[in-house]
Amino acid sequence: MNDTLHHSGDRSAPWPYPRWIAHRGAGQLAPENTLAAFRLGAAHGYRMFECDAKLSADGVVFLLHDDTLDRTSNGHGLGSDLSWSDLSQLDAGSWHSRPYAGEPPPTLAAVARFCRANGCLLNIEIKPTPGTEAATGRAVALAAAQLWNGPGRVPGQPAPPDQPPPLLSSFQPEALAAAQAAAPALPRGLLLETLWTGWLETAHTLGCAAVICDELLWDQTTLSRVHRAGLRALAYTVNETASAERLIGLGLDGLITDRIDRFDPQGPMST
Ligand code: G3P
Ligand code: MG
Repeated sequence: MNDTLHHSGDRSAPWPYPRWIAHRGAGQLAPENTLAAFRLGAAHGYRMFECDAKLSADGVVFLLHDDTLDRTSNGHGLGSDLSWSDLSQLDAGSWHSRPYAGEPPPTLAAVARFCRANGCLLNIEIKPTPGTEAATGRAVALAAAQLWNGPGRVPGQPAPPDQPPPLLSSFQPEALAAAQAAAPALPRGLLLETLWTGWLETAHTLGCAAVICDELLWDQTTLSRVHRAGLRALAYTVNETASAERLIGLGLDGLITDRIDRFDPQGPMST
């Protein structure tokens, strides 16, 4: 299909997100997808975070990357099999290192409170347990729309100015379609591990504002197609200086990194 037909985005509109985004809530030096990781990223100057969100058995949106709990907590089996009251008792920090022992998994609501109180922006990756793509996309979008509705409030302080809404992303078009139906005003990004047939048409159909690719997929041709379609171009997971330099030279709009200790989000590579 002719690229000129793809105009779901509007690249003349301002992009409110910074270039650098901490991956899994800055989850390499601290346990991924925990508030401890967000705090560490914020202490390194990061203003935007990516995290992975899915549903508990009783429909609470919480952060977990894998389908199962085993790698990143003392729990076992599918995260979606446990209620939030059971998930909230887990230790999601000891697996990483002793200083984080006892760190719990957070709900999306807790992450929203942290981000809004600290002026941080969020990219919520919808990470459905297989078979729950539409339900997870819908629930994450509805929760995000509600949690970011109105100015962020810190008790005793004046309301800060409106903050940009969270960017919702997913590898699963079905999850993004459900998010689009539930909260059409929230921006969306299509995640790509490969350039499968029809990816740009799909991003267009889903009304995406961005395409977020494995860093190795970006070259001048891919970037031109995305930018000509009016979409923003983001890359994951950019951990090497040479990769960052290549992608910034190409003209990428956003880089998702684990290496909050290597890349200064306000430094020379920030603009
Ligand atoms: O959202 C970008 C990146 O997080 C996608 O890969 O597996 O780390 O969630 P993964
Ligand atoms: Mg992710």
